[in-house]
Order: sequence, then structure tokens, then C-alpha cells
Amino acid sequence: MSSSNKRYEGKVTIVTGGSKGIGQGCVEVFAEAGSNVVFCARNEADGKALEDRVNALGNGRALFVKCDVSKEDELKRLVEITIDTFGRIDCLINNAGWHPPHLPISEFSVDDARKLMDLNFFSAFILCKLCLPHLRKTQGNIINMSSLVGIQGQRCATTYCATKGALTSFSKALAIEEAANKVRVNIVSPGNVWTPLWREALPEDEKGLKEGYALGEKQQVMNRFGTIEESGKLCLFIAADATFTTGVDHILSGGAELGYGVKI
Ligand SMILES: NC(=O)c1ccc[n+]([C@@H]2O[C@H](COP(=O)([O-])OP(=O)(O)OC[C@H]3O[C@@H](n4cnc5c(N)ncnc54)[C@H](O)[C@@H]3O)[C@@H](O)[C@H]2O)c1
Repeated sequence: MSSSNKRYEGKVTIVTGGSKGIGQGCVEVFAEAGSNVVFCARNEADGKALEDRVNALGNGRALFVKCDVSKEDELKRLVEITIDTFGRIDCLINNAGWHPPHLPISEFSVDDARKLMDLNFFSAFILCKLCLPHLRKTQGNIINMSSLVGIQGQRCATTYCATKGALTSFSKALAIEEAANKVRVNIVSPGNVWTPLWREALPEDEKGLKEGYALGEKQQVMNRFGTIEESGKLCLFIAADATFTTGVDHILSGGAELGYGVKI
């Protein structure tokens, strides 16, 4: 039984988009569990600050790598640095992504849709390809951060839903292929987790923010947002403990998809 706090000790985890939000939760929870964590984002200052905070705790080591996941050469560099530094990869968390403002399809250009597909889907596709040779050696696992709306749909979010639907389906297909290599591939589909992405989507003024936040809370039967720590904990459970799951869409939603309409 490995139920200790250090249950991912000696492992190496890559987290994309790890400087903020759900990715930050993953970096912190995996490092606390003893894993070395290589994480990337585009903003160097945010990344370095989190790297310092995590390393000051003296658990698993955090290493920030500046990388735009839309760029294949930068993803290659991310994997090379990970292998040069730690020599192995046990878990890949494809988390980086973006939800554009809500608009009808007439307001999205084809170029908007393609660019979002590059960011939310192809980054994960490429990184899976780059990491699989290493994951097969460790019999490791992949966690792809999708979204509840990838299967449910969402008003004025055709491009976003398409990217997440693609990621969920891709993950299931890859899970079938990689089972023979003992690499598990799972999906986490968050509903509403309070992150900078959510904050940016709400009005800037205090009243608008309060109203938007309250409406966001009401979408869950649990009547609150999820936290980045809860997100990291679900990913750690999948990576470290849930060793008989593959191709599973793990819903992280406080029951948002249950029932119809406003919950409370
Ligand atoms: N927060 C939610 O309620 C929610 C719900 C469903 C799905 N998700 C998904 O979870 C993931 C994380 O969302 P979040 O809310 O934490 O977002 P966030 O905006 O708060 O954080 C996103 C992270 O990704 C990084 N990032 C963005 N573009 C990047 C790029 N091109 N290259 C490298 N890094 C990049 C950012 O720097 C940041 O670290 C996303 O894929 C999002 O679609 C979030």
C-alpha cells in the first residue's frame, strides 16, 4: 500500500500551463507527493516565482521551462530538457489551454478555430507523441485536461467545445493503442474551477464580479467552484493510485451535469 504523502516520490511529471490555475494546482500537489515536476508556460516571471515557492518547500523539485505549447520546436525542447535533467518521464499532464470569449459561430473566423485547435488539441497530440517513447519505458501515464463542455456542448463556444471534444476522443483512442505498452491515458473534464481564466471571463467591476461568481457557483449541485488543489489531487489520484483506469473521462464538476437547469 502506498497511501503516504510521498506516494509519487522518484517520479517525473510534466505539466503544461503550470504557472497558474489548474496547472499550478497539479505542480503543487505532485511536488508535495515527492514527484519532480517540469512545468511550462509562456510567462517567465510567473513560472520562476512558482518554481521558487515550490522548491522552498523541499519536496519534489520543480523546474520551470518557458515554452509556448502551440510551437512544436518548443515542445521538443521541453521534453529534451526534462530528459537531460531527470532522465525519465512518468506522467504527462496536458493542461495548457484557453477558452475564448463566448461568441456565435458567425463571429469566429476559420483562423480563430485553427489557432485554438493548435493550442488546445494539437499541443497535446504532439506532446503525447514526443513523450510516449519515454512513458513506455516507465509504464507511465498521460492525463489530458479536457472539459465537461467537450461532451455537453456550451452556448457560443463552438470552437472551444470542438477542441475539447477532440481531446477527449483522442485520449480514448490512444488509451486503446497504448494499453499494450502499459501506458494509461486518462481524461480530466473540469466543470467550474476557480482560476485566472474564470476571473478574466467575468466583469472587472466589483458588482459584476460578485454577480458572475454567484452565477458560476449555482451551476453545480455542490453550489461552489472547485479549487486548483482539488484538481491537482484528482490528477495525482489518477497517476499514483487509479492504476486500473485507462481511457476514462474523470468528471471534476461538483455535479454540474446532474439534473436540469439552475440547481439551487
Ligand atoms: N477553470 C475551469 O473552470 C476549466 C473548466 C474546464 C476546462 N478547463 C481547462 O483546464 C485547463 C486549465 O485552465 P485554467 O482555468 O487553469 O486556465 P488559466 O488561464 O487559469 O491557466 C492556464 C495556464 O496555461 C498557460 N498557457 C496558456 N496558453 C499557453 C501556451 N500557448 N503555451 C504554454 N502555456 C500556456 C497559462 O500560462 C496558464 O499557466 C485548460 O485547458 C482549460 O481549458 C478549465
